[in-house]
Amino acid sequence: MCGIVGYVGHAEAVPILLDGLKRLEYRGYDSAGVATLEEGCISIRKEIGRIDDLRRSIGKNPLGGTTGISHTRWATHGKVTQKNAHPHCDRSGRLALVHNGVIENYSSLRTQLEEEGHQFISQTDTEVLAHLVGRAFDRSGERTQGALVSALREALHLVSGTYGIAIVHAEFPGLIIGARRGSPLVLGIGKGENFLASDVSAIVGHTRDVVYLNDYEIAVLTGEGFTISTIEGNGADYNVTTVEMTDEDVSKGHHSHFMLKEIHEQVKSVTDAMRGRLAHEEATAKLGGLNMTNAELRSVERVILSGCGTAFHAAMVGEYAIETLAQVPTECEFASEFRYRNLPMTKDTLVFVLSQSGETADTLAALRESKRKGHRTLGICNNVASTIARESDGGVYMHAGPEIGVAATKSFTSQVTVLTLIALLLGRIRNLSSSEGSRIISEMEGLPAKIDRVLKLEQEIASIARRYAQAKVMLFMGRQFNYPVALEGALKLKEISYIAASGYASAELKHGVIALVNEETPSIFIAPHDAVFHKNLSNIEEVKARGGPVIAIGTEGKGQELSLLCDDVILLPEAPEYLTPILASIALQFFAYHIAVTLGCDVDKPRNLAKSVTVE
Ligand code: F6R
Repeated sequence: MCGIVGYVGHAEAVPILLDGLKRLEYRGYDSAGVATLEEGCISIRKEIGRIDDLRRSIGKNPLGGTTGISHTRWATHGKVTQKNAHPHCDRSGRLALVHNGVIENYSSLRTQLEEEGHQFISQTDTEVLAHLVGRAFDRSGERTQGALVSALREALHLVSGTYGIAIVHAEFPGLIIGARRGSPLVLGIGKGENFLASDVSAIVGHTRDVVYLNDYEIAVLTGEGFTISTIEGNGADYNVTTVEMTDEDVSKGHHSHFMLKEIHEQVKSVTDAMRGRLAHEEATAKLGGLNMTNAELRSVERVILSGCGTAFHAAMVGEYAIETLAQVPTECEFASEFRYRNLPMTKDTLVFVLSQSGETADTLAALRESKRKGHRTLGICNNVASTIARESDGGVYMHAGPEIGVAATKSFTSQVTVLTLIALLLGRIRNLSSSEGSRIISEMEGLPAKIDRVLKLEQEIASIARRYAQAKVMLFMGRQFNYPVALEGALKLKEISYIAASGYASAELKHGVIALVNEETPSIFIAPHDAVFHKNLSNIEEVKARGGPVIAIGTEGKGQELSLLCDDVILLPEAPEYLTPILASIALQFFAYHIAVTLGCDVDKPRNLAKSVTVE
């Protein structure tokens, strides 16, 4: 949520900053801004809208300089206006700051500063922080780089909340200072140049050598080098990591949207989630990253799965898988609720937090609360360098590759794959026989080929989607393993097409939802040929009896009853019930995508959203 890019070196800063911002645009796209240092002055340009709007505005009114900071915003405090866009300045106008996160006590600090005569231009919490740093620096009476860093330390001690920040000051050309608490920052090491960004994808085109800052650390960057210290003023150890991600991984390639590219990447991402993790001989899964012995896993009496949005829906599929395959009582809890509930948790409760980005504020808070209560807490993350990955006691990486489209796609299927492996492992040290284990392994190995067949249905699904694109309301129905898929299908559709879509367990229809059914309200039933197929069929009959159009997702070779009853049928390869969510969700991703494209929506950057929700 929001993106930061900073550059200091020998090249013109603006093109590097704008390219970096473009790569981070999925993090926030309300407004954007740049500040550079030029001939002892700070020059700032800000624009409402997208990075291209800012680029155009800079094209008309260029700004030079080889040091600069920049920001793309997802508004939290203050409306989307040019004044509220970052960078923000201190009282002197000689210090500029960009910020991700939320300064929670900004209101009282602002009142105090106003009483001292400070005037504010914006409604943001960020401007308060800029004034605090500037005030401390001016009060110090010293005009040195060291004094500026000390002023930052002093200011950071006054604020509560979260921040990833970058600062430049007119008196120090060739210097950027960054600091982090709860909002990621990564330093990129170049030759005679250095970079600072909230996400490595912004700088990977320039350098692969990076240092991930920890919370409570300050980085001071010049073109020649950098230092890292703690907010308390002590030296900090750091590791230089070589990033594997390439520039290509974070570009759309020949696809018209990142979302479409990522849907099509699912043969690979699901294969990668399983790679090296299927132990044929023992007919189980091998998940060394859990850091738990079989005896420890055997003593787990209860599993809690926590996440937000799509990750929560994947967790719900995991709940069915773990209970079905391993018979371990499992519960899903919204990460945003976790720490506000007094969830009864016996000492043998194992907690998993699921997060693609590994930076979602609510999920991180759930992880910390679970650990504080003394529970072993494991992560299922995609981003290996993320805070959740680093703070969890162990876990399983998804290995899905960067997910840039704001709507989560491949991360859902990777999470479900990982949860199925966990269910297999937990099952095999309990009651699941070796022959059942082997059957599950062979089904999982056959999954990528089935995904490939679903991907080939894109044009068929697209033509169905186009016929329903004008609907104002849509209902998604599924049972058992596919109830969470109904929720996920509805979420996908509403977030990128703005059609009011809701998901339900099919039988819930008669308990109220059926009141919404009419000729204009399509219902999408996920009805594979499983144990509850005929139950789903009865629910479809109920909708048809009331004139509602029905699109059904069924099973190849077994679609006859659905075809007789439904308006449209999408048939997917046969799979065991615990794997049908992966195939069905991909069909629904295509469905949502093609409706949104038909409606002319901005698929990769839906209104009001941003990737990675790093505020509570
Ligand atoms: C929906 C979507 C969100 C995320 C949620 C959690 O398409 O992308 O619902 O799934 O914000 O994000 P992560 O997995 O990064 O914690």
